[in-house]
Amino acid sequence: VQKPAQKTVKDYIRTIPDFPHDGILFRDVTTLFADPRGFRMCVDQLLAPYAGMRIDKVVGLEARGFILGGAVAHQLSTGFVPVRKKGKLPGQTISQAYTLEYGEAVVEVHDDALQPGEAVLIVDDLLATGGTAEAGIRLIERLGARVVGCAFVVDLPDLGGRKKLEAMGMDVHALCA
Ligand code: PRP
Ligand code: ADE
Repeated sequence: VQKPAQKTVKDYIRTIPDFPHDGILFRDVTTLFADPRGFRMCVDQLLAPYAGMRIDKVVGLEARGFILGGAVAHQLSTGFVPVRKKGKLPGQTISQAYTLEYGEAVVEVHDDALQPGEAVLIVDDLLATGGTAEAGIRLIERLGARVVGCAFVVDLPDLGGRKKLEAMGMDVHALCA
């Protein structure tokens, strides 16, 4: 009897056309997160390349990076630090502007969330232009910490994010395109 093929992470992700704008194929990871096998598989695969490496903190990028980053931090027994959209964090913050498809946005981190020399793993659901991740990297580096990896569930290579991050000297890990 033939065994049914194992589902991959990609099989759990749904694509929704024309969200949030006409022409965008939105990769919806809520279906991946909602499935117990899918969610565990994806968290395990995100952290696999970093097993045995020194990681002091996991930084998650708002909003889906919080869901994944929290699970990764728990599994690695590290702390978790959120990089949030402007105006959401209550303490003293540093800010970084970045470019979106239309206009600009700003992300922030608490200025005491990372210590100089700490090794940081960045986690988010999706890499598109790389603007969000680049802003996160800049915040982390401004606090004197160093990024040892950037882990994403989905890489959309046509949008250039991987090239941008690799040109900054980053290690980019993605589970599917
Ligand atoms: C999405 C995604 C990444 C970012 C990737 O978040 O979750 O964080 O876009 O795009 P980029 O590589 O071009 O920067 P979004 O900005 O939609 O924010 P949200 O998760 O708070 O909805
Ligand atoms: N962020 C930027 N582009 C996206 C896409 N196509 N799907 C989901 N999130 C995104």
